[in-house]
Amino acid sequence: MNNFNYYNPTKIFFGENSIENLSEQLKAYGENILLTYGGGSIKRNGIYPSVIKILKNENKNVFELSGIMSNPRKEKVYEGIKICKENNIDFILAIGGGSVIDCSKAISAGSKIDRDFWKAFFINNEECYDATPLGVILTIPATGSEMNLGSVVTDWEKNLKIGYMSKMLYPKFSILDPTYTYTLPKEQTIYGSIDILAHVFEQYFSEPNDSNLSYDLSEAIIKNVIENLEIVLLNPTDYIARSNLMWCSTMALNGVIGLGKNQDWTSHQIEHSLSAFYDIPHGAGLAIVFPSWMKYVYKHGLNKFVRYAINVWGVDIVNKTDEEIALEGIEKTKEYFVKIGAPITLTEVGIPKEDIDRITEKVFLPNTGYMKMTKEDVKNILIAAI
Ligand code: NZQ
Ligand code: ZN
Repeated sequence: MNNFNYYNPTKIFFGENSIENLSEQLKAYGENILLTYGGGSIKRNGIYPSVIKILKNENKNVFELSGIMSNPRKEKVYEGIKICKENNIDFILAIGGGSVIDCSKAISAGSKIDRDFWKAFFINNEECYDATPLGVILTIPATGSEMNLGSVVTDWEKNLKIGYMSKMLYPKFSILDPTYTYTLPKEQTIYGSIDILAHVFEQYFSEPNDSNLSYDLSEAIIKNVIENLEIVLLNPTDYIARSNLMWCSTMALNGVIGLGKNQDWTSHQIEHSLSAFYDIPHGAGLAIVFPSWMKYVYKHGLNKFVRYAINVWGVDIVNKTDEEIALEGIEKTKEYFVKIGAPITLTEVGIPKEDIDRITEKVFLPNTGYMKMTKEDVKNILIAAI
């Protein structure tokens, strides 16, 4: 295991009715609250009126930023920063998934500087020294943004989807009530689950190859997602299954399973470029990229891919070479994505071969994984996913 430091200040309130903790948490902050949310699901499922009631009881002045779109765009962040600056916002309360949370994180950082937030943080990666405090009410298990330091925002005109990380961006608290996810459309539940799996893959498939706790935790999360997604697809209001998916979301990207690991994140970078051109759901893009990426790199981390095939998919190893076992594990992953109804080719989401060059051009390569990648490699991975 590599050496590591770990810090995570986000308080978690988990379970049915955990919204009851909101009043107490808000007492620590001033009276001007910016409520941020998406396209209206929280109004349809009743979360919005229950939160408004609590805010009114606490005598908060409520300002709103609604309509935060999936794959949030920088223009929405400017809108939020303006509201914060004009109204001396003391606290941002984000209700939604990764898109609402990420947009709100960018607003929280951008509200404390006089310069352009996009240029300062997302392009120049400047350090963030101050941010409007932020709390989260999570409505979709997927990104882990509810308990991490990342924010991903898109400049649609330049087709750039960029992540920014700062310890100032950890939510102060996150309220995770699994019953809030009962109303998720089937495809959002599926894409969210794929995102959780993908976060585990990014951290799992990298050096070191020793036997360490991060691998065991990772495999447990993968198996838990597979088991519970199946239940939820049959019964969307199964509390236990929804609870497991929600906690898997948080555990997959709150830093814990990446401890002692190099981590990869190339597939995420490729996906971000796909959604920066085509605005596809993040989880759909990952289902397309991951099997292709796995097949491209598995020889460089053969032992791990063998371990994955055996421990996650129960691949029978009798009379098989390591390569055959690894390839079977990758094939099972692909078959699983097909089984749950995710796209596994670019063609299925309407991305033509002719666009691969410009998509590749915008991919940022972290190069911390098993294989040192070039743009040519990225292009090959995308071509294999046509
Ligand atoms: O906008 P509304 O009407 O609320 O509908 C949303 C949205 O259409 C709907 N939804 C959410 N909760 C619901 C619900 N519908 C009914 N009932 C509910 N309870 O679901 C749709 C998708 O929401 P979104 O927030 O876009 O999904 P997700 O959580 O997957 O977030 C995706 C964004 O997060 C970024 C992605 O790139 C993408 O931009 N990521 C953020 C990360 C981070 N900050 O750590 C890491 C990830 O790898 C990822 O890159
Ligand atoms: Zn992701």
